[in-house]
Amino acid sequence: MAKAQEHKVSTKMIKAVRGTRDLLPPETALWNFVETTVRDVFRAYNFQEIRTPLFEETALFARGVGEETDIVAKEMYTWQDRGRAASEKGQSLTLRPEATAGIVRAYIENKMWDRGLNKLYLLGPMFRRERPQKGRYRQFYQIDAEIIGPSSAGSESPARDAELLEMLATLLDRLGIANWNLQLNSVGCPNDRANFNEALRRALEPVKDRMCVDCQRRAVTNPLRVFDCKVPEDQPIIEKLPRISQFLDEGCRTHFEAVQAILTKVGVPFSLNDRLVRGLDYYTRTAFEFTHGALGAQNAILGGGRYDGLSEALGGPAAPGIGFAIGEDRLVMSLQENAPAGSVLRKPDVYVAPMAGMNGDAARLARELRRHDLVVELGDDAFRLKKSFEAATKAGAKYILIVGENEVNTDVFTLKNLATGEQFAVPRAQLSAKILGLI
Ligand code: HAM
Repeated sequence: MAKAQEHKVSTKMIKAVRGTRDLLPPETALWNFVETTVRDVFRAYNFQEIRTPLFEETALFARGVGEETDIVAKEMYTWQDRGRAASEKGQSLTLRPEATAGIVRAYIENKMWDRGLNKLYLLGPMFRRERPQKGRYRQFYQIDAEIIGPSSAGSESPARDAELLEMLATLLDRLGIANWNLQLNSVGCPNDRANFNEALRRALEPVKDRMCVDCQRRAVTNPLRVFDCKVPEDQPIIEKLPRISQFLDEGCRTHFEAVQAILTKVGVPFSLNDRLVRGLDYYTRTAFEFTHGALGAQNAILGGGRYDGLSEALGGPAAPGIGFAIGEDRLVMSLQENAPAGSVLRKPDVYVAPMAGMNGDAARLARELRRHDLVVELGDDAFRLKKSFEAATKAGAKYILIVGENEVNTDVFTLKNLATGEQFAVPRAQLSAKILGLI
């Protein structure tokens, strides 16, 4: 008895892991619509696709994103790999929490500076161990784009910042997302940041003991990260801290003004927000977020900025860059209320219903029709005609096509419009044209 129990297979249902989810049809049609539109818009700006691994050496994110950031300090999925020999300890690996560090690593490793200015995009899943809530998942999807290259290729120019932001405005408009708000800031160069950090440290010294434990630590190690704090009691203190806009040097100020001037010229509206410092350490100069009212607490639909020193921090040559990542889950969520035309799942044009013994002939006919780009649902000759009609209606097919011995012998088929009940006798050669409504 004990033995039998030991071998009993558990029948407990296994569910998707907390913070992950299945994307199901018809919603996946909306995802495809978004991705097709994204690829079309990016192509017009001469961006090309890059795909990097889903996991990387942990050190890449620690150095790239920053040890003190919430992402690296709390949210990464990290594990120790096995070494070659069983006894050997392997590398520390991490599921990518974001795409920029991996793309810059690929830029350096593949010596992509030889190509001049690189305009790259990446679509795919990212992983962060955050507390799941509406619009926040542990596996989520980003649409990421980066412009990176040597200064000689113009990668530092404010024209690139403005081009990227104008592309985003065009994309959101094309997707039918109204009411977005572009929040814009400059976080300065490393020198400005150092001065700002020093001023923050001084300002935090007398008040930090009244703040949360995270802020007490940040006040010493990396005061800028105090702005990531979400604790309500700390907000009045944070509100009174110095602002980065007071610390920008001449070069950064001029750069920022040039970005704004182009945006105004091309008609992209924005709001200045000198509290926006972003949650990743690599940013320099332009930083931005697009928010959307309908999203609730997690209202940032996308974020990005410049990272002029990231390549060097990762052991590469100087390669100024700027980029952004859209949260695709959130983008789809903001679209869901009124799905735009083109995002709807295409229903079958025709349901092919074989009579008894006619599976082979029906398969041949379905093959012919699919070659004409029709969406075909194929039935089964075990079904009685009534059941075939029910299945065709359930699938949402426009027509049902009966395949019996007589039809195959005469090469004339009965086609019935399921919505109107109209019935036609159609020669084989004209079937696809009739179904497509061409004749
Ligand atoms: P980020 O602000 O950390 O920036 O993420 C960008 C966007 O990803 C967010 O605005 C949000 O829409 C989405 N997102 C982030 N975390 C989650 C989550 N847990 N669930 C759902 N959506 C999420 C970056 O990742 C930078 N790499 C962007 C960048 C590219 N900067 C320069 N180049």
